[in-house]
Amino acid sequence: MTVNSPHPVPPEGEAGKGPPCDFSTLLTLDDMEAEAARRMSRMAYDYVASGAADELTLGWNAERWRNLRLRPRLFSDVSRLDVAVELFGHRHAWPLLLAPAANQRLLHPEAELATARGAALGETAMVLSNAANVDVHTVAEVAPRPLWFQLYIQPDEGLTRDIVQYAEHAGASVLCVTVDSPVEGVRNREKRAAMCLPPGTDHPNYLGRRTGPRSEMTLDGVRPQRLDAPLMGWLCSISRRPVVFKGILTPEDAERAIDLGAAGIIVSNHGGRALDTTPASVEALPAVADRVAGRVPVLVDGGIRRGTDLLKALALGATAGLIGRPYLYGLALGGAEGVAHAIKILRMEFLAAMALCGRASLAEIDRTVLW
Ligand SMILES: Cc1cc2nc3c(=O)[nH]c(=O)nc-3n(C[C@H](O)[C@H](O)[C@H](O)COP(=O)(O)O)c2cc1C
Repeated sequence: MTVNSPHPVPPEGEAGKGPPCDFSTLLTLDDMEAEAARRMSRMAYDYVASGAADELTLGWNAERWRNLRLRPRLFSDVSRLDVAVELFGHRHAWPLLLAPAANQRLLHPEAELATARGAALGETAMVLSNAANVDVHTVAEVAPRPLWFQLYIQPDEGLTRDIVQYAEHAGASVLCVTVDSPVEGVRNREKRAAMCLPPGTDHPNYLGRRTGPRSEMTLDGVRPQRLDAPLMGWLCSISRRPVVFKGILTPEDAERAIDLGAAGIIVSNHGGRALDTTPASVEALPAVADRVAGRVPVLVDGGIRRGTDLLKALALGATAGLIGRPYLYGLALGGAEGVAHAIKILRMEFLAAMALCGRASLAEIDRTVLW
């Protein structure tokens, strides 16, 4: 969905302030985005909503789930729906996680702490971004278990190792390594909006040792971060937690990820924020799931906005999905309560979609759910 925001409301630096939001009037995740667009500063809204370059992948992510048709099955007992799922030895109440997202202080003064509280209210696991504004130890005090930590590999291997150990020590039980961004995407809309963080905002999970950006992209040159196979293999060898590679789009890379030691894969184009004109996640998912053939869990994110989108993701072979922007709009609208509201909407819709398709358990969701 694209929303034209009638900004500027509220002024910069006023994230999370303003009259309380009446969540009962917001029935869909798109309603939440529209309300967030009205209330957020233009800069904050554009930071969240934007994608890379011409935002074609961003648009396809949302649109392509909707192109798939469902094939309901009647005459099955759906009076009890079982949606719990196990991932890496941990039980999840349902097959959804909150995707990692940087710089949440831009959206709410409590930043990732409010997200963690909202995730707990919604019984949904979160992936804390390496570029969060709250320390992973602090988040771990309120986040539901399991807590996942997302890592950006650093130019200094010693710092990468220390971040991994720091997150493990905080109680992170899965390490999610983002592999699709040797450089940031070409974020034209974000640059035009002149994204800047409130004064005093920190990135504590770089342990105060980040001396510069991990990669650089200016008109004078591009200096990408090394993310090659030996480095990723090394990373898997030093982590004491299962490592999930986030940002896989092709079966070949899925195969390489497993060879390198990945315990799981997230099919993702970074919400359309990395390389524009890559396919929608839903287009990439089936071939990856086929190649992986159940050897490791395959998750997917990008454009999941309806319960039916999540159902389709599982039908195409995903074990779980993740959402990014929808919970960020919830955070901007009302902190933990807003995050929990976004989760509730999607969960209710997902349960309804299962019942209407005649599937009482996740095990019954396969490609026959699709027309
Ligand atoms: C504002 C914002 C910040 C993000 N920051 C990160 C990040 O720090 N690390 C990362 O791996 N992905 C990051 N992502 C990508 C998300 O993890 C996820 O892949 C994407 O948002 C999913 O698509 P969706 O927003 O359409 O649900 C970010 C996305 C957004 C919108």
